[in-house]
Amino acid sequence: MKTSTAALSLALYAQSIYAFPRAMYDSAEHFAALQKRAGPQGGAPLPLVPPPFDPALQYVSNQGQYKFVAPGPGDERGPCPGLNALANHNYLPHNGVATIQQFVDATNKGFGMSRDLSTFLAVYGAIIDGNGAGWSIRGTPHTGISGSHGNYETDSSPCRGDLNQWGSNSDLQITQFKRLYALQPNAATANYNLDVLRTFRTQRFTESIQKNPYFSYQPFTGMEVSQAAFTFIYRFMANKSAEYPEGRLDKATLKSFMSIQGPENDLKWVPGNEKFPDYFYKRHPSDEYSIPYFQTDILYFAQADPRILGVGCNQGKVNTYSTIDPAVLTNGAYTAQQAAANPVCFATAFAKAEAPLLTGLSATLLAPLYSALDSATSGLNCKAIGSVNQSAVALCPGFALYGGPNGPVAPGAIQN
Ligand code: HEM
Ligand SMILES: *[C@@H]1O[C@H](CO)[C@@H](O)[C@H](O)[C@H]1NC(C)=O
Ligand SMILES: *[C@@H]1O[C@H](CO)[C@@H](O)[C@H](O)[C@H]1NC(C)=O
Repeated sequence: MKTSTAALSLALYAQSIYAFPRAMYDSAEHFAALQKRAGPQGGAPLPLVPPPFDPALQYVSNQGQYKFVAPGPGDERGPCPGLNALANHNYLPHNGVATIQQFVDATNKGFGMSRDLSTFLAVYGAIIDGNGAGWSIRGTPHTGISGSHGNYETDSSPCRGDLNQWGSNSDLQITQFKRLYALQPNAATANYNLDVLRTFRTQRFTESIQKNPYFSYQPFTGMEVSQAAFTFIYRFMANKSAEYPEGRLDKATLKSFMSIQGPENDLKWVPGNEKFPDYFYKRHPSDEYSIPYFQTDILYFAQADPRILGVGCNQGKVNTYSTIDPAVLTNGAYTAQQAAANPVCFATAFAKAEAPLLTGLSATLLAPLYSALDSATSGLNCKAIGSVNQSAVALCPGFALYGGPNGPVAPGAIQN
C-alpha cells in the first residue's frame, strides 16, 4: 500500500513536470487550479506533489575534501552566495574562477540545479562576461560577474546593494538582509519560502525606486536574473527532509549561506564566508530546478506584483520610475502582454539580440551562446527579437553594458 502510493505520486510527479509547462502557458485556469495546493514552498504551484526524499542522494558533504576553507588572498568571491559557498567548499575551484563544465557540475552537485538552467547561466557568463570558456565569480568587466552590471548583475537584488546606490554591487547590505530576516519573526517556525520572498521582492523593487536614482530594470537582468536572485533563496538554500521534501529554509541555514554571523541583536556580514551548513540536503535528482520550473515561480511572483514583468527605470532622480513598452523596445517583436506571459522567452530573446553589441563578436563566434540559449528554452516556443531599439534603452540614465564591482554613488542616492 505504502509502496504503491509512493510509486503513484512519483509517477504523477514525473508526468506533471513534463506536462506542466505547456499546459500552464495555455491556460490561466490551469495555473490557478494548481495553486490551490499550498505546501512548505508557500502558494507557488510547484511542486505538484511532494518530491521524494532520499538522504543518500541528497546529502551535501561539508567534510574532508569539501570542508569549509575561507577565501584567502587571490581567491575571488562576488555577488552570488551560491557560487561563493561552492568555492569555499571546493565544489568549485577555490580561487573562484571556473569553466562552464565546472559550474554546471558544481551547481548540480551542491544544490540540484538542473543542467538546462546551469548551462544557460554558465555559457552566458563565459561568452558575455568571461573568456568564452569560463569566468570569475567576482572579477571586473570582461572577466567575471561582479563586472557585469547591466548585462548580468543588476539592481534590486535581495541582499547585495545597488551599484549606484552604495558604490558596490557585490557587498551585502546588512539593512537589506535584516529586512528579509525580520519577515519571519519566530525562529521555531521560520521558513523563508516563496511567499516570504515575493513579499520581499516587492519591497526591494519599491526600495530601489525610492533610493537609487539610476535604478534600471531591463528584460534579461531585471525580469529574469533578478527574479532568480529571489527564488533561488528558497529553491536552493532550503534544507530538504522527509518532513519537508520541498524544503524548509530556517534562520540558521539562511545565515550560513548568506555569510551572516553573530547574535540576533548584532548580525554581521563576513565577506565571502558563505557556508554549507552541517547535514544539508539538496533537491532530489527527480526534482531539479529547471527553466520551466523557474518560469512558473516568476509568474507566481508577478501575480503579487505585476511591475516585475515590465521594463523600466528611474530617470536620474529617486521616485521617477517610468516603464518602457516592450513593443517599442523590440521594434514590435513582443507586445507587453506577450512579454509578460512568457518572461523567460522575452528576456532570452532580448539577451540574444543584445549579444553582438555587448561582446563585439560576430554571429559565428556567438553561435555557442545562441545554441545554449535556444536549447535551454526549446520547450517554451520562444519568438525571436530581430533588433533592439537602442534609443528606447538609452532613455535609462542608469543603463550600462558593463560595470562593477565598484562604481560611483549617484547624486541623490539614499543609503539606509
Ligand atoms: C552557474 C550558475 C549561477 C550563475 C551564473 C549565477 C549568477 C549570479 C549573479 C550574476 C547574481 C547577481 C544577480 C543580481 O544582481 O541580482 C547572482 C545572485 C544570486 N545567486 Fe547566483 N548564480 C548561479 C547559481 C546560483 C546557485 C546554485 C545559487 C544557490 C543558492 C544562487 C543563489 C543566488 C542568490 C540567492 C543571489 C542573490 C544574492 C543577494 O543579493 O542576496 N546562484 N547569481
Ligand atoms: C535538514 O533536515 C534534517 C532532517 O530534519 C536535519 O537532520 C538536518 O539537521 C537539517 N539540516 C539543516 C542544515 O538544517
Ligand atoms: C525607438 O525608441 C524611441 C524612444 O522611445 C522612439 O521614439 C521610437 O519611436 C522607437 N522606434 C520604434 C521603431 O519603435
